[in-house]
Amino acid sequence: MEERYTVKKYNANEKLSEEQIADLKEILRLSPSSINSQPWKFTFVSDLDTKKQLAEASFFNAPKVLDCDTVVVFSAINNVDLFEKQINVTLPEGSIGYYNDFLKPLPSQQLHAWFEKQTYLAIGVLLSACAEMGIDSTPMEGIVPEQYNAILGEDNYNSLVAVAIGVRSEEDRNHVSTTPKSRRPLDEVVMAV
Ligand SMILES: Cc1cc2nc3c(=O)[nH]c(=O)nc-3n(C[C@H](O)[C@H](O)[C@H](O)COP(=O)(O)O)c2cc1C
Repeated sequence: MEERYTVKKYNANEKLSEEQIADLKEILRLSPSSINSQPWKFTFVSDLDTKKQLAEASFFNAPKVLDCDTVVVFSAINNVDLFEKQINVTLPEGSIGYYNDFLKPLPSQQLHAWFEKQTYLAIGVLLSACAEMGIDSTPMEGIVPEQYNAILGEDNYNSLVAVAIGVRSEEDRNHVSTTPKSRRPLDEVVMAV
């Protein structure tokens, strides 16, 4: 956690290995979620033409999207019928009962917020895994979700956030050696009682 940081400039000539990408896919698949609901999809985009389209929907993040090796798009399910069909097949009776009793009755907005919370957890999993594996990364909320959905041809899932992964440029000024970590003090954010 001391060494990982948000990369602002990638080396477009350096690629991740197929094995690294395969490991990250499996790590994301294994992400935890409440009642093991897994209301998500993770889309790995390495194809340059698609990255160019995503870059146009990524504001100031465009250069990162273009020069990184792969953009991982995190999407939460937005089709409740589809979600219910999925959990009816994959989850044990107790978990389906929990969903029916506590989540299904919520106002639609809160249910969708719950899907999104589960999906956001997986970003932390990916960023931590990248740190451990020595892979550079950039979490990006600066994207246009509707345009991402259209580019990826997604109807039942909504893009929330993306993570660029790859190899940083030597010129990246955000590296911890030039831009030291800035965080609130430990005793303000972590309590022991
Ligand atoms: C959910 C999320 C969204 C973020 N969106 C962006 C973004 O769109 N572009 C960007 O350059 N950095 C983005 N960041 C990076 C944060 O600004 C960064 O994590 C924070 O300043 C701490 O710095 P560090 O990651 O280098 O330790 C995002 C981070 C998170 C966790």
